[in-house]
Amino acid sequence: SFFSSPKKTLDGKKVLITAGPTREAFDPVRYFTNYSSGKMGYSLAHVLQERGAEVTLISGPTHLKTPEHVSRINVTSAIEMFEAVMKRESEMDAVIMSAAIADYRPKEIFHQKMKKQEGSLFVEMVRNPDILLELGKRKDKQVLIGFAAETEHLEDYAKEKLRKKNLDMIVANNIAEEGSGFEKDTNKVSFYYPDGNFKSFELMTKHQVSEHIVDALEELFKVSDL
Ligand code: CTP
Ligand code: CA
Repeated sequence: SFFSSPKKTLDGKKVLITAGPTREAFDPVRYFTNYSSGKMGYSLAHVLQERGAEVTLISGPTHLKTPEHVSRINVTSAIEMFEAVMKRESEMDAVIMSAAIADYRPKEIFHQKMKKQEGSLFVEMVRNPDILLELGKRKDKQVLIGFAAETEHLEDYAKEKLRKKNLDMIVANNIAEEGSGFEKDTNKVSFYYPDGNFKSFELMTKHQVSEHIVDALEELFKVSDL
């Protein structure tokens, strides 16, 4: 046709991608969450699919349409996301964790609506499992890509996560920067690699960022001989 279609450079590759926020229940009408829109992950799922990958999208609650030919699994909490990822990770050639997973959940979920009382309310929060850390421990022949959303010390924090979680690449974005991060259609990112290499990009659309991430994934498949 007149429009050139993308080369199917990821033909036969199975890629798992997580996206969106998680929602941590407090009582039947309330929950804790964050500002993640899911746009980055959904855009990535779309680009991966265009290049021929078999894409599974594990998504927290979003208002986004499922990209065509992507198989989507809906989850709500971090624990549900953990279980959905672990059930499928071993058959995947690559996992990309773009979800903004809540680090904590309320220790207790009340089964009736909490009634207000005099004075302050103290909610005890307990740690959620770190999905990417667990994937990094289990990783054998697989490409693992994480995200780091930071408001300060971007490079140091991103490199620390790259190392600690045993990743092949981390996508760092400064969410304090204008035009970058949650709910926006644009993002300004840098990629960091375990060998110390890095790449910094100008502000661009999340679609363009996705194209660069998928280019980088293709390169990682090549060099790791997968
Ligand atoms: N991540 C995860 N499981 C969690 C928390 C985070 O898999 N419970 C993943 C995210 O999807 C992201 C990466 O780990 O790819 C980094 O997430 P981020 O929130 O930036 O870092 P944390 O390791 O949670 O550290 P902190 O929030 O303290 O900066
Ligand atoms: Ca976190």
